[in-house]
Amino acid sequence: MTDSPRLTRRPEWTALEDHRGGPLLHPDLRAFFEQDPGRAERYTVRAGDLLIDYSKHLITDETLALLQELAAATDVFGLRDAMFRGERINVTERRAVLHTALRASRDAVIEVDGENVVAKVHSVLDKMAVFADRVRSGEWTGHTGKRIRNVVTIGIGGSDLGPAMAYEALRPYTAHELTFRFVSNVDGADLHEAVRDLDPAETLFVVASKTFTTIETITNATSARSWLLAEFADGGTSRSSEVESGGEKAVARHFVALSTNAGKVTEFGIDPDNMFEFWDWVGGRYSYDSAIGLSLMIAIGPDRFREMLDGFRLVDEHFKNAPAEANAPLLLGLLGVWYNNFFDAQTHAVLPYSHYLSKFTAYLQQLDMESDGKSVDRDGHPVEWQTGPVVWGTPGTNGQHAYYQLIHQGTKLIPADFIGFARPVDELSGGLEAQHDLLMANFFAQTQALAFGKTPDEVRAEGVPDELVPHKTFKGNRPTTTILATELTPSVLGQLIALYEHKVFVQGAIWNIDSFDQWGVELGKVLAKRVEPALTQGAEVPGLDPSTTALVAAYRTLRKK
Ligand code: F6P
Repeated sequence: MTDSPRLTRRPEWTALEDHRGGPLLHPDLRAFFEQDPGRAERYTVRAGDLLIDYSKHLITDETLALLQELAAATDVFGLRDAMFRGERINVTERRAVLHTALRASRDAVIEVDGENVVAKVHSVLDKMAVFADRVRSGEWTGHTGKRIRNVVTIGIGGSDLGPAMAYEALRPYTAHELTFRFVSNVDGADLHEAVRDLDPAETLFVVASKTFTTIETITNATSARSWLLAEFADGGTSRSSEVESGGEKAVARHFVALSTNAGKVTEFGIDPDNMFEFWDWVGGRYSYDSAIGLSLMIAIGPDRFREMLDGFRLVDEHFKNAPAEANAPLLLGLLGVWYNNFFDAQTHAVLPYSHYLSKFTAYLQQLDMESDGKSVDRDGHPVEWQTGPVVWGTPGTNGQHAYYQLIHQGTKLIPADFIGFARPVDELSGGLEAQHDLLMANFFAQTQALAFGKTPDEVRAEGVPDELVPHKTFKGNRPTTTILATELTPSVLGQLIALYEHKVFVQGAIWNIDSFDQWGVELGKVLAKRVEPALTQGAEVPGLDPSTTALVAAYRTLRKK
């Protein structure tokens, strides 16, 4: 138990409340920029190849100083150092939190229980690289000798979102002669649509599950195995006797596992030689740079995968070493706290201006909301302050024609991150560069409009009739961060993810919550298991509430029709 004062009773917290209620009662970005011509330059930091402009935020130097005092008082950097050292900062699961070790350089030493985990990390990376190269080159063949052309990854949550997001993000770098699909939903439609046009003889299933007990993943993997074996049995190969005898050889050629649980992997029938290991100190939502990234490595190749890890490491080093006032994850975390706790902002939008980042925000939803969606502190006491925001967003220009209206003129304050790139990826250069400039013109125009708006006088000066002036007025003062990089490379993707990982960490540290457990997903899982017999057999479920009992009865009646 800690005996430090509760967060909201800290003098650093009340100083921020006073500041918000006093000088920052009516923040005005136009005035801030007029009074300080150097503001844009002063409020820009660099982390690796990322340029991060936070000048369009409702802050002054005093705000930043007070936020930094809060970070110091809550010892954010102390917890950061404990994380990097491998201390068990995931208190409720008594685990180290060492996703940073997944991208440590080969010669680094990070010990957990007296063992250097970096050596283990690189040994698995090497094993993954050998396998990835064999699949990419066609040397790894399926059961009938055909080369693998399809890689279907089955996983959910952290064992799906990362690889699926990164595959989309790095699509121009992927082996175009291979097809990659990702199956996560226990709705059979997901698997059905993923495999219906594939030849099983050319298909490799990558089953990704840290625990190897997750019902959605095991169910989908079991169905995939049946699909594979059924196709071999019916499909005119001469191997049906092997299929009848359990199909172990077929499974061995077509299934690999990414897991921490060797026992369960073997029980499922996957050869332990085809298992790529990771460890309990890698949280699910922090795992895609571990063995969980195998399908991504097959897609982009081991060298590019390593470039991505180098990118992660660049921002890890920045977070570890940059001084507080230039530390990008710290600053972004503090800004998040500023709006979440002192402006009552409920949500945070992440708006990438890159079609390749179409799954980026969905990935961040798990990273942020599973990490910081907590209502008790690290000691188990209820928190009296707001914790993690609702994170949402889609690629920018599509959002502009959908929900940006509310961000510009609605009644809610929605801080937003705009992520953009100076160049389209190489593949598009030449043909589509002009289109990229148009995309980015929108990118810059939006943050300008959000920050500075349009006054009634400016609207009138355009000859707008009086009755329309209020409708065409933009109040501005909508805060945004602009994150700009040259190009969406594997390294830059790694940098972006590490930036957000550490931002989420900073916020959890300030709110004094355990950002690394996820007990909140357990109850639904337990109840689903209890309800299932009621659906399948009409069994009575003791303790089922009247609403759910009636709904289950209606479901069974409707299903019969
Ligand atoms: O939904 C909770 C969760 O434990 C996530 O944190 C995790 O990423 C996901 O389930 C998948 O778990 P596993 O990798 O063990 O299948």
